[in-house]
Amino acid sequence: MAKAAANFACTECGYSAGRWFGKCPGCDAFGSLVEEAPATAATRVAAKPLLRLVDVNAEEAKRISTGVPELDRVLGGGLVPASLVLVGGEPGVGKSTLLLSALGAISAAGRRALLVTGEESTAQVKLRAARLGGTEGVEILAETELDAVCATLERERPDVCVIDSIQTLYAADMSSAPGSVGQVREAAGRLLRVAKEFGVATILVGHVTKDGAVAGPRVLEHLVDCVLQFEGDRYHAHRVLRATKNRFGSTNELGVFEMTGEGLVGVPDPSELFGKTLPGEIGAAVACVLEGTRPILLEIQSLVAPTDLAMPRRVGTGVDPKRLAMIVAVLSRHAGVALGSADVFVNVAGGLRIDEPGADLAIALAIASAARNAPVREGVAAFGEIGLTGRLRPAAQSERRLEECTKLGIAAAVAPAGTRSRSKIKVSESGTLREALRAGLKTGQENPRKSA
Ligand SMILES: Nc1ncnc2c1ncn2[C@@H]1O[C@H](COP(=O)(O)OP(=O)(O)OP(=O)(O)O)[C@@H](O)[C@H]1O
Ligand SMILES: [Mg+2]
Repeated sequence: MAKAAANFACTECGYSAGRWFGKCPGCDAFGSLVEEAPATAATRVAAKPLLRLVDVNAEEAKRISTGVPELDRVLGGGLVPASLVLVGGEPGVGKSTLLLSALGAISAAGRRALLVTGEESTAQVKLRAARLGGTEGVEILAETELDAVCATLERERPDVCVIDSIQTLYAADMSSAPGSVGQVREAAGRLLRVAKEFGVATILVGHVTKDGAVAGPRVLEHLVDCVLQFEGDRYHAHRVLRATKNRFGSTNELGVFEMTGEGLVGVPDPSELFGKTLPGEIGAAVACVLEGTRPILLEIQSLVAPTDLAMPRRVGTGVDPKRLAMIVAVLSRHAGVALGSADVFVNVAGGLRIDEPGADLAIALAIASAARNAPVREGVAAFGEIGLTGRLRPAAQSERRLEECTKLGIAAAVAPAGTRSRSKIKVSESGTLREALRAGLKTGQENPRKSA
């Protein structure tokens, strides 16, 4: 006989157990386990007729353009009808703004677009709509009851529906609170059924946890066809949209937006934002780092200033201090960059944080450029891990990094020996840090009197 269903689940990772734990055994979060109502027995349904692939109507699979080119690109060329898309992002990053302007464009193209809002009143949405403009044809429903939402979708059958947000929906037949694992899973499951059965392309807005993952159980990510992450920080107007999962397209695409008074405006050339240095600028290098499994180009700046302090400062913003101390030591010991009597400051542009050893080489290039008063060669990005012996170690997923460089218009890369490129980009393979500095820095302008 099957074991009775577990009835405690973690709100962070979805771990479930038959008893309560103060600390989740799955993800070590404290106080995250909540009781779930036992699942109700499923009712039997009649068998459905089968269909051959050749008989499937291709019209039904034609993508719907969202009218937002950056969003279309990340989705892999538009929304697939009857698909389920999950959009996650920090509070206030602009999820509602992006999706409302997409709905506006979809309705303007003659399709039915419905916004189900559980977080904001219709009047608040109207205020935003007035700011964005072009959203007159969007239909709106202010509702949080799951059954009512599903029944409305079944009756109205819009082409595209946005649920803002999945955490506000609740199923009346479940005892747990809205936003809990059970409720979110139930809501996503029922919406999935409605989406597939009635051909409604559904976009779910999801909250994120403090580590940036979409809140709710991981099963949610398995359930949907596409998971988009909307990222950005509060000090900058730009936002980045990425797919972390896409059943109908590549996950390497990235969409960049700028938040303006008229809503989110797509940025056609994102390399201008993060990964571009001024040609000839001293102390700036471009790193190609992996964030999780996603490559991104970042500008790294460094300042090397003479100091009288007995213990010179090594200050890194967005860089691990231990890693920075190690890079400075390897630079002085193995690459002839004397930094013993200089303060070293390193900053990652855009307020981002790098936790990945693949960024070592670009950090070293920026510091060496500042110390030697020689700029990094134009249009060059760098990646690779620096070993304590001064030898460069290959960075993980170099091909994806090179692809990202090509996508953002970088012509050449300095990388560890053994990095093979299938794309057009020119790779200067370097065995040691000294060789990498030679390949990356403009030697003509080298200053023989080191500033340090
Ligand atoms: N008039 C304006 N001019 C420029 N930016 C604005 C203006 N009004 C709002 N914003 C921006 O829009 C953001 C809010 O967008 P939105 O409500 O779409 O975010 P959200 O991701 O849906 O947030 P939540 O998770 O709270 O629902 C604000 O953080 C602000 O940066
Ligand atoms: Mg919102």
